[in-house]
Amino acid sequence: MSTSIESVLVENRVFPPNEEFVRNAVIPGMDAYKALYKEAEDDFEGFWRRQANEHLRWTRPFTQVLDSSGAPFYKWFADGELNVSYNCLDKHVEEGRGDQTAIIFEADDGAVTPVTYKALLGRVCRFANGLKAAGYKKGDTAIIYLPMSIEAVVAMQACARLGIIHSVVFGGFSAKSLHERIVDVGASVVITADGQYRGGKALPLKPAVDEALSQSNTEKVRSVIVYRRTGGDTHWVDGRDIWWEDFEQGQSDECEPVVMNSEDPLFILYTSGSTGKPKGVQHSSAGYLLWAMLTVKWTFDQKPGDVFWCTADVGWITGHTYVAYGPLAAGLTQVVFEGVPTYPNAGRFWDMIGRHKVTTFYTAPTAIRSLIKASDADAKVHPDSFDLSSLRIIGSVGEPINPEAWVWYYKNVGKERCPIVDTWWQTETGGQMITPLPGATPLKPGSCTLPLPGIFAAIVDETGEDVPNGKGGFLVIKKPWPAMIRNVWGDSERYKNSYFPAEYRGYYLAGDGAQRDNDGYFWIMGRIDDVLNVSGHRLGTMEVESALVSHELVAEAAVVGRPDATTGEAVVAFVVLKRDRPHGDEAKEIAKQLRDWVAKEIGPIAKPKDIRFGDNLPKTRSGKIMRRLLRVVAKGEEVTQDVSTLENPAILEQLTESV
Ligand code: WT7
Repeated sequence: MSTSIESVLVENRVFPPNEEFVRNAVIPGMDAYKALYKEAEDDFEGFWRRQANEHLRWTRPFTQVLDSSGAPFYKWFADGELNVSYNCLDKHVEEGRGDQTAIIFEADDGAVTPVTYKALLGRVCRFANGLKAAGYKKGDTAIIYLPMSIEAVVAMQACARLGIIHSVVFGGFSAKSLHERIVDVGASVVITADGQYRGGKALPLKPAVDEALSQSNTEKVRSVIVYRRTGGDTHWVDGRDIWWEDFEQGQSDECEPVVMNSEDPLFILYTSGSTGKPKGVQHSSAGYLLWAMLTVKWTFDQKPGDVFWCTADVGWITGHTYVAYGPLAAGLTQVVFEGVPTYPNAGRFWDMIGRHKVTTFYTAPTAIRSLIKASDADAKVHPDSFDLSSLRIIGSVGEPINPEAWVWYYKNVGKERCPIVDTWWQTETGGQMITPLPGATPLKPGSCTLPLPGIFAAIVDETGEDVPNGKGGFLVIKKPWPAMIRNVWGDSERYKNSYFPAEYRGYYLAGDGAQRDNDGYFWIMGRIDDVLNVSGHRLGTMEVESALVSHELVAEAAVVGRPDATTGEAVVAFVVLKRDRPHGDEAKEIAKQLRDWVAKEIGPIAKPKDIRFGDNLPKTRSGKIMRRLLRVVAKGEEVTQDVSTLENPAILEQLTESV
């Protein structure tokens, strides 16, 4: 919780945008920002009406902007109709931008494939026609389990074209996680690849699909469409599995977009909450698309000629909004990258920026921190060894960026010329919420600065009362916004309880602790719930705990986060075995087994970095695990709290020992 606040103390310089940048900006200067903000304040619905009319192509115009009658189940532009894929593709072709490059795909091995808007539209239509021919239609649900590829974007856009609700599962998730999602969304089709390339290695993907589909409650899945990426032998289920190229064989490259209601779900994306089961965050069509497009334009100051690159995988919300939808809706040229930042060496990102003349680069603090380390060790991979002169704007997303990393990024990548947009948002918010505007906002390293126009962010106490600047509290959004989560798929109660608990006066509760400084700037302090942020990925402590206790050796487990210099937070697991407490090599061996187990249950990102064994866990007399204490112990700090309420204070000593 304390890292960002410490950062206020160590870095208090302010970096205003340069004048030339301001002059040419989409939102030119603080007065322009304030005017837009005020427009939304003075005439909330009028503001959103104007944005939705100016930015989206409607097949049937909406009359009502916001329907709050079922709050917190808000409806935006509810009687309007449109198609998301039409707005991302056809629009540009019809307006004469068909020959512009939409995607520059760079494979793990460096092979580059450009695709124009016209060609992308053709590919989306062919695939959509394949889906149609196979009997899929509006309202069906599809699981997409693909590597970063043109095909991933095609699959998502083709679903959007037909009104098939997609749920993308990150390729790093296990067969078990995949199975849970297939069942929860009630998927009738799975779109996958035989394998993927990462860091020069071919890794299989299809076996996880086969394993997931061999489990119960998956009978609804009629087809598995397999994109051939790595080649080699693949287990095949006749009648169910079909190669991508056979699936779209002979299909026309024209496909009428299906008319969708604004509120029809576009996708479901699972994210971790404070219980064991991930939540299916349900997003809408029109409101989501509007915000994806608007935030690309505002936050990244995008104009014709920009080359945009968001490094996030399409398995995360960042890859949905800032790869699959936003940049296309805004008509940009964007880089899509299959590989990893460290292959063939840690200069890969900088090399690609130079080769593709990237103007806008958006990545996560974890990546920056690991590249700082690598370039300290080897000047050849330092950004100075590459041509980064094309860059105009650089961005950060997913976790707090510590001021040291911020300043390094600003100096070495942005050459003290490019503004950094440190964007705060969440899977649930659909798009960026609190972020600098590159041509307006004076930057403070470590702060995500100010809310976007139309976003009414505030810090409140546990009764929903505003707290004064300088005081910590809960981050809330006081008014709904078009891209907000619509529901937790299949669990309306969970939606209400998680995001609109009664004490908070109907505000959206983000789950982050934060504070504002005297300039009203927001400083995010970290999650207030049992959610961890490891390398910018959200993980529930309960999720990892339930994975651990499902192992036959484990009696009990408690998981906490510990600050980590590279990954932001690291997973620390305190484990009680059903047998006696292990020591030495045996403890190491069991810890390894448990790590592999968690990777198999959830995915490698959830593997505990540190496992500690005890005869018991520190509990109160009523049996509650004292996580607060465990967090202190995990950090290796002295326990100074009163432990007199502990049932078994001696246990703490054992838990200070890492395996
Ligand atoms: C959580 C949301 C943002 C999309 C990708 C992650 C943390 C996100 C920032 C930031 C400080 C941040 C918050 C938030 N977070 N961006 N710029 N500064 N913290 O989406 O997986 O839904 O995670 O990530 O704690 O609640 P997500």
